[in-house]
Amino acid sequence: MEPYSFEKFIFGILVWVALLTSPCISSAPCNFPAIFNFGDSNSDTGAISAVFSPAPPPNGETYFQAPAGRFSDGRLIIDFIADSLGLPLLNAYLDAVGSNFSHGANFATAGSTIRPQNTTRSQSGASPISLDFQSAEFSSFRTRSQIFRKKGGVFAELLPKEEYFSSALYTFDIGQNDLVYGYKLNFTTEQVKAYVPDVLDQYSKVIKDVYALGGRAFWIHNTGPAGCLPYVLELFPILAAQVDKHGCSAPVNEVAQFFNQRLKELVGQLRKELPLAAITYVDVYTLKYTLITKAKELGFEHPFVACCGHGGKYNFNNSRRCGAKITVGGKEILIANSCKNPSVRVSWDGIHFTEAANHWIFQQIINGSFSDPPVPLNRACNKLDIN
Ligand SMILES: *[C@@H]1O[C@H](CO)[C@@H](O)[C@H](O)[C@H]1NC(C)=O
Ligand SMILES: *[C@@H]1O[C@H](CO)[C@@H](O)[C@H](O)[C@H]1NC(C)=O
Ligand SMILES: *[C@@H]1O[C@H](CO)[C@@H](O)[C@H](O)[C@H]1NC(C)=O
Ligand SMILES: *[C@@H]1O[C@H](CO)[C@@H](O)[C@H](O)[C@H]1NC(C)=O
Ligand SMILES: *[C@@H]1O[C@H](CO)[C@@H](O)[C@H](O)[C@H]1NC(C)=O
Repeated sequence: MEPYSFEKFIFGILVWVALLTSPCISSAPCNFPAIFNFGDSNSDTGAISAVFSPAPPPNGETYFQAPAGRFSDGRLIIDFIADSLGLPLLNAYLDAVGSNFSHGANFATAGSTIRPQNTTRSQSGASPISLDFQSAEFSSFRTRSQIFRKKGGVFAELLPKEEYFSSALYTFDIGQNDLVYGYKLNFTTEQVKAYVPDVLDQYSKVIKDVYALGGRAFWIHNTGPAGCLPYVLELFPILAAQVDKHGCSAPVNEVAQFFNQRLKELVGQLRKELPLAAITYVDVYTLKYTLITKAKELGFEHPFVACCGHGGKYNFNNSRRCGAKITVGGKEILIANSCKNPSVRVSWDGIHFTEAANHWIFQQIINGSFSDPPVPLNRACNKLDIN
């Protein structure tokens, strides 16, 4: 072989190796046919409304013009995700009326935790449907949907095809309530941190169970800065007294970051244990913290005040939440109503974000710039060697 062609040969091999190892070049769009979502109120699209009490007006006013099972004036991040993938908005698995699961199902319920709680919903606000039960529901849905699809007719129209389970996007947004409920039990920050490893063990088990049922593409949101939320600041005066330079509770956010650091490590571990899984870790914490602390620069107002609520420093009163009514002289009066312009507000009801805030967060995450690995949403099925 003469030197010139030998160099060309080596160069060719180098280009070939570069192509094989370069994440950008090797990843193709995924065409997800369905989404299966797991989580809490950040992504509940109707479960708590179907099973317990409907989200009252003015929830839903901005986009749906009526309550639509969501704790927001409009769409949630999961709605923007579905829409951007060309899929219909997800119905809650527990919603027996009018649901169409042909392109996915939503197992999230407001108040859900990863670990089952030892308190009831009326005691603590915790949903009885913790992540392990959401996983059991998914398993049941996976099996029964295929039995019914075979009956044809409307069943075939309302239920997903078998092959969708391996090509779907599996989204997760949960963990915030596991942390906040510890404080409701009067735990110290150190005590809350101490149970985080157990919470993550149980999270890990669910992801493995979904993988065993065919799940391959996982999109996992980390937990947000709960220490910046009006309800946390109102309910825990001691924690609200220890604020950072922007006005968020430092210990609560420290716990959230502690959880996120370990969640990120867990994701790295799961990539090794689940060789066919593509797992994307999405840093919504940083985005929510940026939105709240730089609200003005981003065109938003009053990030620490609920748009819809009833009085107090944060316009949040736990016994008069968004939509609360009182009866005066036989007439019902809405005393926790919406603010004038939710489109410039961050916090909808002191716990959840406005549609405008959810949309801003979604726009930042869609291209992958806050993800690990940094792949865009529509390419999140591609397994990349990043560890
Ligand atoms: C519920 O109680 C059991 C038994 O004491 C305990 O192991 C578990 O950690 C508790 N769960 C929570 C979320 O506190
Ligand atoms: C269910 O949704 C799919 C996708 O949007 C649609 O094609 C189908 O017609 C719907 N079926 C029924 C019965 O609404
Ligand atoms: C937590 O402490 C508050 C104030 O001392 C008390 O009213 C409440 O009952 C305590 N909660 C629990 C679950 O122990
Ligand atoms: C919440 O609202 C009720 C009814 O208006 C009021 O009595 C109570 O003092 C309020 N609580 C706080 C903490 O502001
Ligand atoms: C991702 O999108 C955001 C919001 O549109 C934009 O600011 C950012 O520069 C984009 N990042 C990349 C890597 O394209």
